Amino acid sequence: MDVTTEAPSKAGLEDVVAASSSICYLDGARGVLAYRGYDIHDLADHATFEEVCFLLWHARLPTRAELGDLHSQLADARALPEGVLRLMRSLPPAPAMDALRTLVSALSHYDPGANDMSPEGRQRTSVRLTAQLGSIVSTYGRMAAGGGQIAPDPALGQAANFLYMLTGQRPSALAARALDIALILHADHEFNASTFVARVSAATLTDVHSAIVGGIGALKGPLHGGANADVMHLLLELGQDVTDQKIESVVRGKLARKEKIPGFGHRVYRTEDPRATHLRAMSEELGRSTGNLRWFQISQRIEQIVKGEKKLNANVDFYSATTYYALGIPVDLFTPVFAVSRISGWTAHVLEQYANNRLIRPRADYIGPSYPQAYVPLDRR
Ligand SMILES: CC(C)(COP(=O)(O)OP(=O)(O)OC[C@H]1O[C@@H](n2cnc3c(N)ncnc32)[C@H](O)[C@@H]1OP(=O)(O)O)[C@@H](O)C(=O)NCCC(=O)NCCS
Repeated sequence: MDVTTEAPSKAGLEDVVAASSSICYLDGARGVLAYRGYDIHDLADHATFEEVCFLLWHARLPTRAELGDLHSQLADARALPEGVLRLMRSLPPAPAMDALRTLVSALSHYDPGANDMSPEGRQRTSVRLTAQLGSIVSTYGRMAAGGGQIAPDPALGQAANFLYMLTGQRPSALAARALDIALILHADHEFNASTFVARVSAATLTDVHSAIVGGIGALKGPLHGGANADVMHLLLELGQDVTDQKIESVVRGKLARKEKIPGFGHRVYRTEDPRATHLRAMSEELGRSTGNLRWFQISQRIEQIVKGEKKLNANVDFYSATTYYALGIPVDLFTPVFAVSRISGWTAHVLEQYANNRLIRPRADYIGPSYPQAYVPLDRR
């Protein structure tokens, strides 16, 4: 064999540094997450999702005028092309994440700038996709529930407009801000699986839509974004009237059978996921505002058991489930809502990759049959 390979990397590329990036700072030992140096707690307390998008794309916070411009660009791009709406209506019933993957791919056919690979063209596509993903997910969710399509409201920000297009009602300030914070918390997370997929695609110099479609496919998986819906399925299976003993026996039973409890554990954090801290508080606040704290209480009980038994912390997906549920978002849309936020981080990473590109092409540690094998003709096998 003429190829020598290096010692195999750790399974799942754990702790492998794959490239340099100036977008997201993640310290798993101290539980720190920062976008472009700004701590996630400060951003969640003070910023809006649109400010965070600008920060991720441009490496600095926007001025008031720049933020106003971005609001207008997003509002202008929210209406979906008629061809995409037609396709949406014609799809057989499918999980919303599958529909999102297909419809984002379809968007490129109606975007004359989809293959404009100039820096300006790629930036424009990033803004358009950020606006359009929210419209796709809210409209698909509304249609799946038998409702009619609602035109976007340019006066509303991304979070409030999403809830408006989904429900047909202008959301309360508390609901709009809760979703806004959830979008901020989910916006970026360094080289998570879906972002890495998007970067690997972008490194071939393919177009932005193609890179994002790959990311959506990766996010769907239950080990990644799919976990938030699985958390809610677990809660719904337990039911609101579940007793403490029943929660104990179900959760301990799963752990004894080595089943994963969705919403716990993380490849990087060894402390609590800093995003979970906000989402826990938000889930409780929304529960109080709707007069139903039961889902929050059941979640807390599960958290105590998993923490006590396995020393595993809740991750971003655990309390986002009850947060979205309290906001009236259907469970099938939970993972797509993650994408509605993560599109900002995916595009920031794709833009960073294009700006300083080299094809990403690692090697494999070959462990197959020895070389050379003698070829056996078909009639002698
Ligand atoms: C996030 C995740 C994929 C990280 O995976 P990883 O770094 O490869 O860690 P592993 O899956 O190898 O888990 C390490 C150990 O912790 C256990 N573990 C990890 N997450 C667990 C969970 N959610 N429930 C129960 N046990 C879990 C594993 O079973 C394994 O135990 P073992 O050493 O006794 O075999 C994993 O924690 C997981 O599957 N979590 C549930 C899905 C989820 O919430 N995903 C969203 C992540 S933001």
